[in-house]
Amino acid sequence: MSLKKYGHFSKDGTEFIITNPITPRPWINYLTNEDYCAIISQNAGGYSFYKDCRSDRILRWAPSNWHNDRPGRYVYVRDKDTKKYWSASYQPMRIKPQLYEARHGLGYTVTNTTYHGVNIEITFFVPTHDTCEVWLVKVTNKTDKKKNLELFPYAEWLLGDYHQELRYRNIMNLYNRVWYDKSSKAIFAKKTAFWGDMHIKPYPYINFLASSLPVAGFATQKDAFLGRCNTEEAPEAIVKGNFKNFELTSGEDAIACLKHNLFLKPKSSKEFSIVLGQTDKDDHLAVLLDKYRDVKKAKSELNAVKKLWSERVLDNIVIETPDKDFDRMMNIWVKYQVYICNFWSRSPSYYHEGGGGRGFRDSCQDAESIMSIDVAHAKKKIRRIVPLIRKDGTCAPGFSDTTGPAKHRPNKDHPVWLTMTVAAYIKETGDNEILQEYAPYLKDNWINGWDKDVNYKGGISTDGEGTIFEHLEKNLNFTFNDVGSKGLPLIGHADWNDAIDAAGIKLKGESVWLGMALVRSLKTLAELAMLLGENKKADQLLHKASTMTDRINDIAWDGNWYVRGFTDEGDVYGSSKNKEGKMYINAQSWSILSGVPSKERQDKLLKSVDKHLDGPHGIALFSPAYSKWDSGLGRISMFSEGTKENAAVFCHAVTFHAVAECIAGRGTKAYEAMKKIMPNSQKDYDLYKTEPYVYAEYLVGPEHPYLYGEGAFTWITGNAGWNFLAATERLLGARREYMGLRIDPCLPKKWKKAKIVRPFRGAVYHITIKNPGQKEKGVKKIFVDGQEIDGNLIYPHSDGKVHNVEVIMG
Ligand code: GLC
Repeated sequence: MSLKKYGHFSKDGTEFIITNPITPRPWINYLTNEDYCAIISQNAGGYSFYKDCRSDRILRWAPSNWHNDRPGRYVYVRDKDTKKYWSASYQPMRIKPQLYEARHGLGYTVTNTTYHGVNIEITFFVPTHDTCEVWLVKVTNKTDKKKNLELFPYAEWLLGDYHQELRYRNIMNLYNRVWYDKSSKAIFAKKTAFWGDMHIKPYPYINFLASSLPVAGFATQKDAFLGRCNTEEAPEAIVKGNFKNFELTSGEDAIACLKHNLFLKPKSSKEFSIVLGQTDKDDHLAVLLDKYRDVKKAKSELNAVKKLWSERVLDNIVIETPDKDFDRMMNIWVKYQVYICNFWSRSPSYYHEGGGGRGFRDSCQDAESIMSIDVAHAKKKIRRIVPLIRKDGTCAPGFSDTTGPAKHRPNKDHPVWLTMTVAAYIKETGDNEILQEYAPYLKDNWINGWDKDVNYKGGISTDGEGTIFEHLEKNLNFTFNDVGSKGLPLIGHADWNDAIDAAGIKLKGESVWLGMALVRSLKTLAELAMLLGENKKADQLLHKASTMTDRINDIAWDGNWYVRGFTDEGDVYGSSKNKEGKMYINAQSWSILSGVPSKERQDKLLKSVDKHLDGPHGIALFSPAYSKWDSGLGRISMFSEGTKENAAVFCHAVTFHAVAECIAGRGTKAYEAMKKIMPNSQKDYDLYKTEPYVYAEYLVGPEHPYLYGEGAFTWITGNAGWNFLAATERLLGARREYMGLRIDPCLPKKWKKAKIVRPFRGAVYHITIKNPGQKEKGVKKIFVDGQEIDGNLIYPHSDGKVHNVEVIMG
C-alpha cells in the first residue's frame, strides 16, 4: 500500500504528517536535548529518561509497546454535559476521531484531533537545555454551543533503573513516593533511593508534573485511578466519571494525573501548558515550574527549540540531485537521525529494551558521521572515548553518562575504530594538535584483552596518560599482535558482527573482516604519523598493513570472493565450501575499503555480490541464511532466517558496501544499494511497516518465510551516519582530506547534474557537478570561482566566503 494511506511529508520536507493513527508500527520521534529525552509516537505513546535510559528512566515503557503503543503522555477529556469521554491523542482510548493528524518535526511532535466538536492540538517538545518536557495544549470549541469540559493530563512513573524494574517490579514500586504538593500545585515523585545490582545510592532527584491551569483534582495511585483489571485504555475514573483525589502514593505503582475544569464559549479556545521533568536542585524546580507554566514563555522556548534544530539540520550541507526523495533524506532526516544516534547511541527506542550506555564502536562511527555538520560535538565525543583505552591497547566496550565505563569483556574489534574518527576530525578541521593532546589510560580488572585480573581490587581508575596518537598506536598494535595460527586477528566473542559470538571463544577463531578493518586503520594511522613528522613510524605501520594484506590475500581468497573467517575448530565460514553462510558482504566491501584486493579480485567479488547477495529489497548481509543453530558460530544462526544478523538486509552493511562501490567507481550500483533501503522510497508500507522518514536497522531478508522487506528497529543505527557519509563524501564526492576538499564524485549513470553545498574550514563551497557524458566516475575539469584548477583538490580558502565550484565529469 502506498504511503498516502498513512501520511506524507510537508511541502518543505521538515515534517512528516501522519493522517491515520493506526500505522503498522508506532511511528515515533525523539524530543531531546543532551540530558533529557522524550520518545513519542504519533499517538503520544512513549517514555522519558534523564542521561541514561536504563539507570534513570522517568516514564514507563512496556516491551510490547511496538505493538500496542502504550503507555504515554495523555490528556483524557470528559464532556460534563454529554458524559462523552475520549483521549486527546487518539491513544489510549482509541475512539475514532472526527479529525486526526499528527506531525513529527525537528524537535517537536504535534497531535491534533477533533472529537464531538472539540479540537485539541498538543505540541510536545523538550527545551534546548532544561531537563523537562512541555506539552502545549490548545483546546478549541468548534461548535455553536458552550462546552463544559474536564481535562485530565496523565503519565505513568517508572522512576529509576529500568532493568531492576523489569526483574523486581513488586519490589521497585515499594520505593516509590509520589504526592500532590498543595503549595506548588504540582505532583512530585521520587524513589527513596536508587537501587541497582545491589548497589544503593541516594536518589537526588525530584520528578514533577504541573499545569498552567487551575487544579481541580489530583491522582497519584495507578490502581485506584484505573480500577481493577483496567488499563489506561479505559480508566474507571474517566469512563465512569468517578474521579477521586489520591494525594499520596507510597510503595505502589504511581501515576501523575491532574483534573482541570474548562468552560469554553462557542467558537472559543484555551491554551495551557503541562510540564513534566526531573531535577536535582530545589531552587531549579521552582524555576522550571514557573517558566513552563507560563504559556508565553513555553511558546518562546518552543521557538528556540525549532530554531536550534533547524540550524543543526538545515544550515549546512545541502545536496540537489535528480532524486528528490534522496535529497530529502540526506538534507533533512538523515542528519536529524545522525544527531539522535550521537545523543543516545543504540539504547533508547521502541524496540530495544534500553540497556543504557553507548557502545565503543558505535560512538566512534557516530562521531565520524556528524563531523561535517557538528565538529564540536564530534570532538567532545572523541575526548570522551579516548580515556576508555587501556595501556594494553584494548578498550572498555562502552560507557554510560551515569555509570561510567562499561565493565564487560573487551571486544576484539573495538581498537580499530577510533583511528578513523580522529583522522576524520583532522581532515575536517586541519587541527593536527589533537594527536598530541594528553588523555588518561583506563585501568580496570581486564588484562590481555580477555582475562580478569583476580588480584585487582581498585575498581575503575586511570593508569597514567599518553597522547591521543599513542592511544591509537596502542590500539592497533594490540590487534596486529592478537592473532591466531593463520596470522589473522582473533574474533573473540564477536567483531563488528555482534552475533558471531561463539566462533572465537576458545581464543582460536579468526576474523578476516577484522584483518581488513585493521589494514584500513593502519594505513590511516601511518598518515597521522606523517602529519607528526614520524616517517619511520609511518613506514612501520605501512609495513604492518602490507603484512596483514598479504595474509588476507594468501589465506582468505575463496576463488570468487573473500571468506569471512575461521572458527575455533579451524572451520571456514563465508566460503563456497559452506552449505549456509557462503558469502558475507562485509568481507567484500571492507576488502575494498581497505585496499586489499587486486583489480582482478575486486571485479570478481563485485560480480559475486551482484549475483548472490543483491535482491529487490537490497543487499543481504550474507547468503544463504542459517537454518539452524550452529554452536560453532553463535547466535547469528539462532535468529529466524532473514532477521537481524542472520542474513537480513542489514542497512549498516549495505552502506559500507555503497562506499565500496563508489571507491570501485560503480556509482549506479552504489545509488541502487542506498535507494533500496531508503525509508521514503519503499513501495509497500504495509509490508515495510516502520517510519518512512528514518532508516531501519535492517529490512527482513529474502529467506524469511513471509516477511521479506519488512523494516525493523528504526532510528538508532549506524547506517544513518554511513548513509550520510556515502551520499556526501562518495556519491556527491565532496570529501574532506588533510590538505583540503577533494572533489571526486561517483554518480549513477543517469544523473546528468548534481549539486552540493559544502561548508568546509571557514568557507562555503557551492559545487555543481555536470555529467554530460553520463559517466560514473572521473573528473575532467574543475573551475573554482571561474578559474580552472589543477587536479581535483581544493585548498581551503578559509575566508568566510562562498566559492562556486564547477565540476565537469568525463
Ligand atoms: C548493531 C550494533 C552494532 C553492530 C551491529 C552488527 O547495529 O549497534 O554495533 O556492529 O549491530 O552486529
